[in-house]
Amino acid sequence: MTSSMNSISRRAVLQATASAAGAAGLGATIPLVAMGAPTPTTLRQDIVNFAKDAARLAKFEAAVKEMQDRSKANPNDPKGWLVNAKAHADFCSVGLTDPNQVHFCWWFLSWHRAYITVTERKIREISGDNTFAYPYWNWSSDRRIPKAYAKAGSPLANAVRFTPNRAVTDGEVDYFPSDPTLKKLGVAALGVKKFEAKTASEINRTFGGIARPNSANGYGNNRLEGTPHGPIHNYVGGENANGDGGDMGDFETAARDPIFFAHHGNLDRLWETWRRDAAKKATEPKVDAFLKHKFVFTWLDGTPVEISAGETLDTKQLGFTYDTLEVFRPGVQPLVVAAQGAEDRLPPVATDKVRVPLTPQAAGSGQRRILEITDVEKPDRPITVSVYVKPTDAPANDPGVNVGTFAAVKAGGDVAWPSQTLSFDITAAAQRYAGKELTVQLVPQRIRAQGAESYTPLKYGQMRIITEQ
Ligand code: C2O
Repeated sequence: MTSSMNSISRRAVLQATASAAGAAGLGATIPLVAMGAPTPTTLRQDIVNFAKDAARLAKFEAAVKEMQDRSKANPNDPKGWLVNAKAHADFCSVGLTDPNQVHFCWWFLSWHRAYITVTERKIREISGDNTFAYPYWNWSSDRRIPKAYAKAGSPLANAVRFTPNRAVTDGEVDYFPSDPTLKKLGVAALGVKKFEAKTASEINRTFGGIARPNSANGYGNNRLEGTPHGPIHNYVGGENANGDGGDMGDFETAARDPIFFAHHGNLDRLWETWRRDAAKKATEPKVDAFLKHKFVFTWLDGTPVEISAGETLDTKQLGFTYDTLEVFRPGVQPLVVAAQGAEDRLPPVATDKVRVPLTPQAAGSGQRRILEITDVEKPDRPITVSVYVKPTDAPANDPGVNVGTFAAVKAGGDVAWPSQTLSFDITAAAQRYAGKELTVQLVPQRIRAQGAESYTPLKYGQMRIITEQ
């Protein structure tokens, strides 16, 4: 343990004692950035590589187990796993317009980065391994739950899961091998050019989301938060035959599953991938309303720790870097997992027709054709939907092209659905089918561990094709 960690811990204990004696919450908080700054900077690794060091994996498992055991003995133990998980319920499973809500707005990326970091530091402290960094799940390369997070009896698998017996499909991880531009990105969301949305209707075409609060009270999923974020929650959590969802499928319980931090670790890593492009990074908000906004978490002794959104922007300041910023695990061929063939699919929850403009796009113009579905109403239950397009005159057994996926995830037992416009890049299909009428089908992906699943039709305003520069 570093000496700075020791002094911070002593201070934390003093503060906790002081606040226990007086009114709770009045004591000063500990700044997260100054806490036990680890030397050297720790490396967040792909779990597949992390797990090759058996001793390190065992320490990680033992620390999580200790936290879980503490929660079993006393659910309110601040050193317990449940108290740590509750932070997610408090900030993610609250109403859409609740000032504490960190989803559906520009806090999404920085709050989750801070949360993983706090959790990582707790494990570091408990395990005594001060080089520990929380390993991420690269779902682009590993389309099933990685072994270390799924091994029977492992504390890392000790969560309520009804994961379907299928691999995560390309669309669910935002990979479109049939479109050269999107294929190169690996995760299509990385092509998004700006961080902040100025209006509600553009939120899902931004990387960071919209300001909270905003005068229109317009909130919604940013591009990455929509997909791949949502579909992976539904996939891991899944559903049992009674329709009960697993921990990951509800923001109220999601962080009880140790894979939560590995899923968000990968999203967080992709934020760094996106920021390698200086022009994109330059669009991140510079205003105090963003930079100075403080997130507060609870340390192991119950003391509040705080960090501003601005302080999350430099991972080195937070004491970590990623082993790689490549989308796919280096040295591994990009994996392709197409969705089921037309015959094996669940019935569509919507079918509609759109006409592709005949006007050819100027070569190299960078113009993209976007399929927009407006005013999508809240689905009545959790659902992951893949969007397929094909020419209306194509045969019935033609599966069409998957152009995107979206998901409705639960928060506190109910579906959290920011009423929103959904958009999908259909450039490759639009080039191929210029001037033609396309049939759009919205097909649910199976999320049940077993048994049949069925969905009611999805209500929406209209489907249309727009052009984006
Ligand atoms: Cu705050 Cu993936 O959830």
